[in-house]
Amino acid sequence: MGRASSASAISGESIGPFDKSLKGNERKKHESDEHGVEPVVPYVHTLFDVHLIEEKRKLEEQEIVTLCSEFFTAGTDTTSTALELIMANLVKHPQIQHKLFEEIKGIISEGEVEIKDEHLGMTPYLRAVILESLRLHPPTHFLIPRCVTKDVVLGGFLVPKNTVVMFVESEMGQSRDVWENPMEFDPDGFMSDSDGRK
Ligand code: HEM
Repeated sequence: MGRASSASAISGESIGPFDKSLKGNERKKHESDEHGVEPVVPYVHTLFDVHLIEEKRKLEEQEIVTLCSEFFTAGTDTTSTALELIMANLVKHPQIQHKLFEEIKGIISEGEVEIKDEHLGMTPYLRAVILESLRLHPPTHFLIPRCVTKDVVLGGFLVPKNTVVMFVESEMGQSRDVWENPMEFDPDGFMSDSDGRK
């Protein structure tokens, strides 16, 4: 199965702000500093070195802009919506919020106000809360459309070649065939070794 379409180029007038920052940055060197610390290479700079082997060419400027734009749009709205939905679920379930707060209090020192990266492996309940919220209230309801490249039988149905297939992510997360009490917000399902399914 392949993707139904590759990212389409964004319109000319949207390029302006990106274009300005692309120019002149193209060949900037990423040298280590005086302490030998490797710099972080910006995503956009990695795209300058992409070679499309079959087409024997590099990415065009408009394609680079499209890929950067895709990164912003795919990464920002999904993340902020996921956070809003997690917070909404915690507001709706104060006992779960309390359990999460206790877990966090247990790993951070007196006076600390933030969870750091190194704490994340010590917060299984936080992980479970995030997964449960993504299951019950996914920020996106569909996956990226796929296209069937040959006739295939899926769940007893013939899907002919070239059919565009849409996977409804929200239905998967709320299916009674897969989850016990799917409409209930219960992070404990993700606390066991299993992945929360029946
Ligand atoms: C909670 C946060 C996020 C959710 C719920 C989410 C959800 C998704 C989903 C459902 C897809 C489609 C996957 C598929 O059809 O196979 C997708 C694709 C994608 N996401 Fe996210 N995403 C999140 C965060 C991010 C972030 C932070 C970035 C980038 C910084 C990002 C970049 C992308 C890109 C580039 C694709 C397309 C991948 C491809 O073409 O193979 N996403 N995301």
